[in-house]
This record gives sequence, C-alpha cells and structure tokens, in this order.
Amino acid sequence: MDKAFNGMLFERHSIRKYKAQPLPAEDVKQILEAGLLAPSSKSARPWEFVCVEDADMLAKLAECKPAGARPIAGAKLAIIICADPEKSDVYVEDCSVAASYMQLQATALGIGSCWIQVRNRFSADDNPAQDLVQALLGIPASMQVVAILTFGYSDEQRNPVDPAKLKWEKVHIGQWADDQQ
Ligand SMILES: Cc1cc2nc3c(=O)[nH]c(=O)nc-3n(C[C@H](O)[C@H](O)[C@H](O)COP(=O)(O)O)c2cc1C
Repeated sequence: MDKAFNGMLFERHSIRKYKAQPLPAEDVKQILEAGLLAPSSKSARPWEFVCVEDADMLAKLAECKPAGARPIAGAKLAIIICADPEKSDVYVEDCSVAASYMQLQATALGIGSCWIQVRNRFSADDNPAQDLVQALLGIPASMQVVAILTFGYSDEQRNPVDPAKLKWEKVHIGQWADDQQ
C-alpha cells in the first residue's frame, strides 16, 4: 500500500470555494492527461473534455441549474465532460471514471475540485441543464453532457476523513450479511 496515496484519499474533499490564484498550465495538462489515461469499456474512450477558464463564461455556465452549480462561477477552470452515446452503451460509467481520475490528479497537485452534476438535472425553467451548456459552448446536440468539474486552489477548510467514520457495514465478506462489521 502506498501510504501517500492512501493518505491523499482521506484528505480529498469536494472544494467549492477557490482562491483567485490561477492554475499552472502544466498542472492543467496533468489533470487532462489523467482523464485521457482513464480506462473505458472496450477502450472506446467515448468522452470529450471542454476546458473553460474564462470568468464570464464560467459565470454563465453556473446558471445551468438552480442548485448545486454555484462553484462553477468562482472556479479557475471547469472541465465539461461529455460523450457521444453512440460510441458506448456505458458512456456514463466511462465519463465517471475519467472524472474521478481528473479529480484525484488535482488532489495530488494540491488543487481542489468539485463534481457538478449535469446529466438528469434541470434548469430553473425545467429544461435539461445540458441545453444551456451545449448552447454556450457549441457542443453538438448529439453529445450528452454528464458533468462539469470545477478546479481551483481551495479557499475553505476541510478536515481529513476520520478512519473510524468509514461505513464498514457496507462491506459484505463472502456473502451478503446485515450484521457484518
Ligand atoms: C455523481 C456526483 C454528483 C455530484 N453533484 C454535485 C453537484 O451538482 N453540486 C455540488 O456542489 N456537488 C456535487 N457533488 C459532490 C458531492 O456533493 C460530494 O462528493 C459529497 O457531498 C461528499 O463530499 P466529499 O466529496 O467532500 O467527500 C457530486 C458528486 C458526485 C459523485
């Protein structure tokens, strides 16, 4: 077990408030590399990543749904994760793995991030949240927007997870058992 990696997992948290400090281009490249390195079913790699750093565009993207999208407005970088459903019947899983890789790479670089759900979410006037995202960024209608990842140096205090609080009752050894600890 790599103790440093394990420790990083305990320290990772969703970060929704960011410092004004910009992200180094080399770090952004490494985050994107992590996404491109992610495994995908049948190696189809159905995902596409749209990177946005422009503050005005980030503020507009934050309007895609009424709750839970505010972090986009203050982020230094957003990566919109979308996919062509024709390229994979499990594109949601593929996109989710790529997103997790990018979030963990960001954590390793000391950069905070948050997953903003777009798929199955709706705007204030009840249109799919992805409609605004697609219109703003010119994403073809054939693509499905799964999520927006926000990135920036953390401007909030989050404590590492206490190992004693892990829900080991969710782990079932050998067969399903409600009373296993
Ligand atoms: C599939 C998924 C969707 C999420 N959607 C949002 C979201 O729309 N807005 C948000 O602020 N956080 C969102 N999150 C972050 C979760 O709220 C967060 O991971 C959870 O509260 C646990 O906190 P932690 O990441 O600090 O451990 C999402 C996370 C996942 C995995």
